[in-house]
Amino acid sequence: MILAIETSCDETSVAIMNFKGFLLSHITINQKNHKKFGGVVPEIASREHLQILQLIIPRALEKANISLNNIKLFSATCGPGLVGGLLVGSNFARSMAIGCKKTFYPINHLEGHLLSPLINNKKISFPYLALLLTGGHTQTYIVNNINSYELIGESVDDAVGEVFDKVAKILGLSYPGGALIEKRAKLGNSKKYNLPHPLEKDKTLNFSFSGIKTSVNIIIKKSIISENVVNNMSASFQNKIIDILVKKLDKTLNFINQRKINISDVVIVGGVASNKKIRYSLKKFCKKNKLNLLYPLNQFCSDNAAMIAWTCLQHYKNKIKPKLNFKVDPRWQLK
Ligand code: KG4
Ligand code: ZN
Repeated sequence: MILAIETSCDETSVAIMNFKGFLLSHITINQKNHKKFGGVVPEIASREHLQILQLIIPRALEKANISLNNIKLFSATCGPGLVGGLLVGSNFARSMAIGCKKTFYPINHLEGHLLSPLINNKKISFPYLALLLTGGHTQTYIVNNINSYELIGESVDDAVGEVFDKVAKILGLSYPGGALIEKRAKLGNSKKYNLPHPLEKDKTLNFSFSGIKTSVNIIIKKSIISENVVNNMSASFQNKIIDILVKKLDKTLNFINQRKINISDVVIVGGVASNKKIRYSLKKFCKKNKLNLLYPLNQFCSDNAAMIAWTCLQHYKNKIKPKLNFKVDPRWQLK
């Protein structure tokens, strides 16, 4: 069995997985104390992780009907993320590993997201193209295999989830705002506001989102805010994000074709990948291009320990040795 901990941001999560990849228990607690601050407060997050882990680790063991002695591998997210949370989660897992004389695997959070659609899903084949859409990152990778990731595009400023959250804040919606914007967008007119398309003519595969947020801010400052304005702006904003993702995916596929890399699967991962309109639009585009669009189950889109356990299992199976003296790294890049 593997016990994994995820504490890189404001979700505290524990998973127990067996060596066949079957989840015996998975508990994710979304910290609510940040709402009133309109964003994650790192110190509060670290203190909450410490409190919550003490409660949910025994509960996860109980649910899985096993004791700590049955755990063979311990793992935790060691970066990227907020350093306080990373220290709490990784020290918790590493201490248990030392106490039980077992091995500790430090896991990269982005790798966890990239492999999350594979959890108990044999339909995806390597190499695949992954769009990583989270609150901290917007990146495109060619996933050649386990432990072989090539970064081919990324946001030069805000991450896509971050811009959802910032636009939600401008519209007076609470934190985190992504799911709220999706809900409001259903009620609005997506053609009401004309928002910019940053880096539209750019030759790289990079993204830029911060100009859209500025534009929303300017328009809203000049408007009298009403339910209609919020709904119409949510719809216009979400539509613009979809337009950017589809056009960039098109450009990325051209690049992949030029390099003669044969892919049949495109995956979207991370919190923003739970957005139904984004899923639907990218699926439609992929279908036109004879590609499969896949995404993880909702519980594996936002931050979760199951993807950390799964990544640990893949490292173990592929004989990738864990770095024993690894320290947490808030900016850990995937190489
Ligand atoms: O992957 P995740 O849980 O955490 C990070 O690693 O950052 O992603 C969180 C982000 C937040 O910005 C949140 O607003 C966004 O995912 N998100 C959404 C939706 N659900 C969550 N964005 C758009 N539509 C959604 N339905
Ligand atoms: Zn994440």
